[in-house]
Amino acid sequence: MGSNSSIAVIGAGYVGLVNAACLADIGHSVACFDTDSKKVSRLTNGIVDILEPGLPELVAKNQDAGRLTFHAAADEGLGHAETVFLCVDTPTDPVTGPDLRNLMGAIDSVLDHGESTSTLVLRSTVPPGTTAIVSENIAARNGHRALDIVVHPEFFQEGQAVADCQAPSRVVVGSDSEAAALRVADLWQNPETPCMATDTATAEMIKQASNAFLAAKISFINEMARICDATGADIDLVAKGMGLDPRIGRRYLQAGIGFGGSCLPKDLRALISSARSLGWSPPALEAVLKVNDDQILVIAEKLDTRLGGLRGKKVAILGLTFKPDTADFRDSPAMSLGLHLSRAGVEIRATDPALDQAPQVAKNEFELFTDPEKCVVGVDAVVLATAWSAYQDLNWADIGRSMSGDLVVDGRNVLNVSEIKSAGLRYVGAGRGSVSD
Ligand SMILES: NC(=O)c1ccc[n+]([C@@H]2O[C@H](COP(=O)([O-])OP(=O)(O)OC[C@H]3O[C@@H](n4cnc5c(N)ncnc54)[C@H](O)[C@@H]3O)[C@@H](O)[C@H]2O)c1
Repeated sequence: MGSNSSIAVIGAGYVGLVNAACLADIGHSVACFDTDSKKVSRLTNGIVDILEPGLPELVAKNQDAGRLTFHAAADEGLGHAETVFLCVDTPTDPVTGPDLRNLMGAIDSVLDHGESTSTLVLRSTVPPGTTAIVSENIAARNGHRALDIVVHPEFFQEGQAVADCQAPSRVVVGSDSEAAALRVADLWQNPETPCMATDTATAEMIKQASNAFLAAKISFINEMARICDATGADIDLVAKGMGLDPRIGRRYLQAGIGFGGSCLPKDLRALISSARSLGWSPPALEAVLKVNDDQILVIAEKLDTRLGGLRGKKVAILGLTFKPDTADFRDSPAMSLGLHLSRAGVEIRATDPALDQAPQVAKNEFELFTDPEKCVVGVDAVVLATAWSAYQDLNWADIGRSMSGDLVVDGRNVLNVSEIKSAGLRYVGAGRGSVSD
């Protein structure tokens, strides 16, 4: 396949927009579709709502060059695409499990309008066995037409999605057709990147197992942090000491309020649900989820014991996105903590650099402030919930003067303990038993 393939990307969210812009930047002609017509109209007018370094510039450059277009209706432009990337959301309902309706809807659009389409790329994260179901559905509707399916999971991290998409750690392409798999890998024109061509079930599992393993590292270190809280050990030094072992590695061993975002919790739930549907409950995965769900309760208890009860107290939460440098609030532990405390009768004041994109529930339940200094006025405690760098540079002497209480809970173990203590404030970290008050 040359450098000028005609590609359609269905879904203009985090994965779809980044993939569409990166593919267009390579030289492909990319039509990007989304059922959200407001999103399409904003993108057509050059407005990128997703906070990712380099993304607005990449979108503008390729729109100007005529290689990247946005569409709300599938019949407009989809007909020319040889290859279609499916990048729609694949949510997991905590009770009913994976919800593939958006994926099936996108596939219907391809079957209805993709006259030239020969390859369907599953870029969305799907539970194990999805490709087999999708293939059967397509064969039932489309028996006469050959359509290769390639499972091609996206591994980028939000906050560095463009850089990761352009230079990924690996390219995984799973298909019954090796030729189709290699055609999709070739679209990226980065022969240096390790590439694995597998069957579809294996490609699905590489993505699911990778996310489950990252989640397991976080829950593992959080469980160790609880033991450190009780014994006076310092979890950051424990993680450093562990991480120096190359078999373990330092990344994802950061103790705190737990993992969130649109991927790890939902993919873990999907994998648990898949295992259950195959006949057993996966104990390790269930424990990873349980430890994570309980992290919110651990922080709430730290506040409860030190404030002498929660009801009627005022708490400032610094950071509401699921991690810094993104405007993504989906499944954010900071949001869950705020809502949990609010239900326990705490008055929540909150701030975040991406507040303009905060979900309605945050507006309804919390008093929101763009300025952290205003957010902390009159509060009994401050909780650092998302490790935005701006909160690591706060003047704690000024903060202390504005608060009515003296408690600082560091939910990410990133604050400067001595500055906080010099300001006459009490400090509590996650598994920092030796320095926590
Ligand atoms: N966000 C991440 O960091 C990340 C990383 C790797 C993989 N993934 C996976 O990629 C997939 C997409 O994630 P996301 O974060 O981009 O989701 P998102 O919610 O940001 O975007 C999905 C988009 O698809 C659109 N859509 C839904 N159904 C459609 C249809 N039938 N036709 C056209 N458009 C449709 C929605 O309107 C939305 O704009 C998910 O499976 C996710 O698990 C996400």
